[in-house]
Amino acid sequence: MAITIKTEAEIQKMRVAGRLAADVLEMIGPYVVPGVTTGELDKRCHDFIVGTQNAIPAPLNYRGFPRSICTSVNHQVCHGIPGDRQLKKGDIVNIDVTVIKDGYHGDTSQMFYVDEPSVAARRLTEVTYECLLRGIQLVRPGIQLGDIGHAIQSYAESQHYSVVREYCGHGIGKGFHEDPQVLHYGRPGTGVVLEPGMTFTIEPMINQRGAGVKLLPDNWTVVTRDHGLSAQWEHTILVTPTGYEVLTLRSNERI
Ligand code: MF3
Ligand code: CO
Ligand code: CO
Repeated sequence: MAITIKTEAEIQKMRVAGRLAADVLEMIGPYVVPGVTTGELDKRCHDFIVGTQNAIPAPLNYRGFPRSICTSVNHQVCHGIPGDRQLKKGDIVNIDVTVIKDGYHGDTSQMFYVDEPSVAARRLTEVTYECLLRGIQLVRPGIQLGDIGHAIQSYAESQHYSVVREYCGHGIGKGFHEDPQVLHYGRPGTGVVLEPGMTFTIEPMINQRGAGVKLLPDNWTVVTRDHGLSAQWEHTILVTPTGYEVLTLRSNERI
């Protein structure tokens, strides 16, 4: 499948979808407290997306995924299924939200601390956010995807963490997962050359110890092989004529 260059009209719809996805994360933050279940967080997001935003939660029934958001706790890397698990003090949790509005997708995820995290969990979370920032800040026409992957990998590894290889960012638009694949590791000067009007996600998954992952028997939840912690942040990005626009920016965020 080819990489699509979005028209100005499509970009306007992507802006709306991205803003809605960011709004869901801003809405749910205050509810991420000790004792809440991931299933309760899912229901609140679902009802907000469907009832307030008049949008569609893209994960629901996507390839059989049974819920409206992904919630990945501690050593869970991604695609955790919300359910009866109660969050407890010290947990870190990634909430990944994708909405469809007027046919276009906005995809973003954030780490939340459940009360106070350990020093190690906070550090991993902050370094992972810095990985995302370093990737985003390179985006402009003419750079290559390998430049982004290399920036993320070299920073993560300089902090003695590792980059998950099995999952990556992706083009996004009318489709949830479009071309190209956006790897979070790589070599500078390699890969797809960016052009204005491309939209894609950057969503590094960074592990505290080894990069290895495995899939749980539920066929969705991905966990670290060595049970070390894992963190992830995600934004949907537009390549502009001069640089980038973060389509899923939250109101308290400056990138
Ligand atoms: N939101 C995830 C991503 O960033 C994909 C989740 S697919 C699901 O690409 F089915 F698990 F929801
Ligand atoms: Co994504
Ligand atoms: Co996502």
